[in-house]
Amino acid sequence: MKNINNILPIQIYDIYNDYNEYIKNSNLEDYSKEWTIQGWVRDFRAQADNAFIKIYDGSISDNLQIVCSRNILDNFDILENLRGATIEAKGQIIKSPGKGQLIEMICTSIKSIGLINDKNSIILAKKVQIETLREYQHLRTRFISFNYIYKIRSTLLKHIHNFFHSNRFYNLDPNVITTSDCEGAGEIFTISSLDSNELIKRAENTIIEHTLNSDKKTNLMSETDIYNTDFFRKQAYLTVSSQLQLESLCSGLSRVYTLNPSFRAEKSKTKRHLGCFTHLEWEIAFIDINQLMDFSETLIKYIISKTLEECSIEYAELNKFISKGIIEKLNIVIKEPFEKITYDTAIELIIQHKKQILQLYSKEMTLEDIPKWGDDLGSYCEKYICDYIYKKPVMVYNYPKDLKSFYMKLNDDNKTVQSCDVLMNSLGELIGSSIREDLYDKLIKRMDEKEMNKSKLDWYIDLRKNSTFAHGGAGLGFDRLVNFCCLMDGNIRDVVPFPVSYEECKY
Ligand code: 4AD
Ligand code: MG
Repeated sequence: MKNINNILPIQIYDIYNDYNEYIKNSNLEDYSKEWTIQGWVRDFRAQADNAFIKIYDGSISDNLQIVCSRNILDNFDILENLRGATIEAKGQIIKSPGKGQLIEMICTSIKSIGLINDKNSIILAKKVQIETLREYQHLRTRFISFNYIYKIRSTLLKHIHNFFHSNRFYNLDPNVITTSDCEGAGEIFTISSLDSNELIKRAENTIIEHTLNSDKKTNLMSETDIYNTDFFRKQAYLTVSSQLQLESLCSGLSRVYTLNPSFRAEKSKTKRHLGCFTHLEWEIAFIDINQLMDFSETLIKYIISKTLEECSIEYAELNKFISKGIIEKLNIVIKEPFEKITYDTAIELIIQHKKQILQLYSKEMTLEDIPKWGDDLGSYCEKYICDYIYKKPVMVYNYPKDLKSFYMKLNDDNKTVQSCDVLMNSLGELIGSSIREDLYDKLIKRMDEKEMNKSKLDWYIDLRKNSTFAHGGAGLGFDRLVNFCCLMDGNIRDVVPFPVSYEECKY
């Protein structure tokens, strides 16, 4: 097999690596080797007879300093044009005599590959806030913060895969096109191969027909009428969660996971909601709720500690500037045991701290928003529990059944289900998890209570008739995790390549 280094162009990483290997082996510091490198200019500083150009190529978060001298380079006087440009440089790499970098290139030739044509380009701006760059997503990777953020994002993914593989999980991605709405919240994107004008015409015709005949039969037929010549001859959606299909794969394989995208047509413009997000979901056979909670905690601690270790350079930089305190925040997650409280306790705590909560979030909520038993906890009350009461991640379990989806296993009290939400400081919900209802009769009863159309999920019900088994799993919003791991109280849009959300789909 060919060595990849003989196939792909040299990167700054290779140069540093070669230098470090040389020093390690020979213990001499007289390294001098000719290299050609391509990259983008991060910084340009000129004196009368020397110019210092720092370039980057994403292979490491550091730059390579290129020293250009008037007496070597013919084009010295026009080097200024290279600010922000893509360039190719040749020269000797030596141990740097200056401060701030280990090595530098004494340049023998330098040329532009692509110049910046617009003097007002955002790339040339002195200081840019990461929020501003949401408008320039196609150029975000040209800013060092995004080097750090995307390196951390990619490293988190690597350790997620490592964790699951080393614990004998199968990585299987069910199709994202589906006819099942797992969460039943109605926040689905329908897909169609029909021309949109045709779809509108058909929908209008069905409404007119329904008004004329106003009988139940027409209403029931409407969906079929609209989609009968569509690709699947029925309505299909983009998945909101791959859980139901993972449950099927779990039967026989025991441990499965996916990093599929999930799609939610949630009309919310918050810092944590996207229309499409990377959804880490796992499903485990023969597990109970306590094991499931311990698993989630262990997974989070593992991936964060590995990433913190591997991205120490990036974290040191983030900690200095845009995310002051990030290392301490992550160390709390790694070191402190997560608090585990029931939903009942959460409600009691909220009622006890009602005054403080209303004072703290006086702009965001009123007395009416304080939940009573049976209500959603609400994001501000969740935040209060996590940020002010425990100051560490909190797992809330045993939610009222009416608050949660049909598939969650009913507790013996007939009121609550075996579910657990993992709440993280300043972020809120990161994981939604549950043990699944594995008993046929109980599942049917729950679906009837929720007035669900069972025919659409006949295959899912069928699993309960074919050697059913105790199992449970979870969904972790990966983009929320990246947000938590990169920024302090950040916005999900700033850690996702080309995010889409309500009323936002520019690319
Ligand atoms: O709590 P959710 O809705 O749970 C499920 O979808 C289950 N079927 C998962 C399972 O058991 N396999 O979603 C899981 C997580 C949430 O905790 C949240 O972190 C994230 O997905 N999430 C979103 N992330 C970004 N944008 C959105 N609109 C999100 N909706 C949910
Ligand atoms: Mg949830």
